Amino acid sequence: IFLGLDLGSSAVKAVAARNHSVIAQASAELSIQSCRPGWSEQCPDDWINAAAVACRAVVDELGSEVSLVAGVGLSGQMHGATVLDAHGQPLRPCILWNDSRSAPECRVLEERLPGLAMRAGVPPMPGFTAPKLLWIARHEPELYARIRHILLPKDYLGLWLHGELVTDRSDAAGTLWLDEARGDWDRELCEISATDPAWLPSIHPGTARVGGLRSEAAKACGLPAGLSVFAGGGDAATGAVSIGATRPGRGFVSLGTSGQLFLCTDGYRPNPARMVHAFAHTLPDTHYQMACMLNGARPLAWYAEILGCPVAELVASAAEADRARAPIFLPYLTGERSPHADPYIRGAFFGLEDATRRAETAYAVMEAIAFTFADAAESFGESLDAAPHLLAVGGGTRSEALLQLIADCTGRRIGRSDGAEAGPALGAALLAAVGAGAMDQTELARSPDVTLWLEPGEEDALIADRLTRYRALYDALAPLSQ
Ligand code: XUL
Repeated sequence: IFLGLDLGSSAVKAVAARNHSVIAQASAELSIQSCRPGWSEQCPDDWINAAAVACRAVVDELGSEVSLVAGVGLSGQMHGATVLDAHGQPLRPCILWNDSRSAPECRVLEERLPGLAMRAGVPPMPGFTAPKLLWIARHEPELYARIRHILLPKDYLGLWLHGELVTDRSDAAGTLWLDEARGDWDRELCEISATDPAWLPSIHPGTARVGGLRSEAAKACGLPAGLSVFAGGGDAATGAVSIGATRPGRGFVSLGTSGQLFLCTDGYRPNPARMVHAFAHTLPDTHYQMACMLNGARPLAWYAEILGCPVAELVASAAEADRARAPIFLPYLTGERSPHADPYIRGAFFGLEDATRRAETAYAVMEAIAFTFADAAESFGESLDAAPHLLAVGGGTRSEALLQLIADCTGRRIGRSDGAEAGPALGAALLAAVGAGAMDQTELARSPDVTLWLEPGEEDALIADRLTRYRALYDALAPLSQ
């Protein structure tokens, strides 16, 4: 049995897996603090507390089988800047992947190194780690002077678990400090973003054993001290591992707090024009392309919170909508990365009328989530044809209606497997199993059994027209949002 811990944006999820099967799972919630517009932060110690709660709950569920646990793998939200002092203590809250304060610093990076995207896999955007360091250097100089280490979120949790300053290839890939083709830190990328390479952790494949559980952490998690901890990966990479996307042509859509359209590629294939990210995967010599949509399935949860009803009820009400009279919704609650690279755009309902009911607005929100995937598929262009179908992972896969809309809007066949919701946490457990020698690495390319296929429907003139208007609405509102 292997444990996978996924430090997400809304919760830490823990799973126990035997081979590819999840046998126990639990989660502990996290909240995001946004004390100024565009800011998005979390306190690193909250991650530790949530991880211990989730881990203990899984351990309790395992009962006497806990003695069979042979290792822990890590996964986490990517790109967050966790800056530490000489004693490994956080100097400030972590600046997260959907924080947009460093837009001006991105322009500085572009000017300092115009060819950056071809080396770092993607043009500078505020979510990535390097522009955040430049922001700290410019806005918090006293704190900046005390920085001695920088870690990605899951690696800060790792530091508490095993005491080592390490990361894996896929999380290193999301910093803008990695030479993606070479798979190592790049001195020039560090220099232009006020980052001393000595502050960065060592880079390992996701299957590497990076330490043993420290006794304090072991006690808090209810696990034996010394238990092996494996490097794991950023949540895009671990989500990929959970459904066998480790070989060229394997692809998936991820529906969590963020949305991802992911395709494993044959080598490093940068495509920066449409903000498609080209990153190192967590396994050696493996790369992928990804469109990352900052709002994922979150607008549904956001709207349900506002209306004070469960998401399932909202989704059910959307089935009653008069689609032709539904408003158009822009889902950009925290700006957008792919394809717009626009940290300033925000959400909107357009076309509300007196006859608009909850059903039409709920439909508009679901449709807008699907439209972000239509834009993502278009950004990939023909390269996406390498994937015969896309699997679906993440909490948003619970809604069959949403998956059907994504199939219709992207024109792609979508498959859902059991355990799709566990996604990244399961991937982390599988990486640990391979690292410990309990599973062969070729098993990571195993596709799961698909229990539900969603075929794209016939070309629908209404959807096509609404997609055109959705895109025009973005073009019209973008200048007003600056
Ligand atoms: C990927 C990205 C998000 C985060 C949070 O580039 O920013 O998917 O990893 O899940």
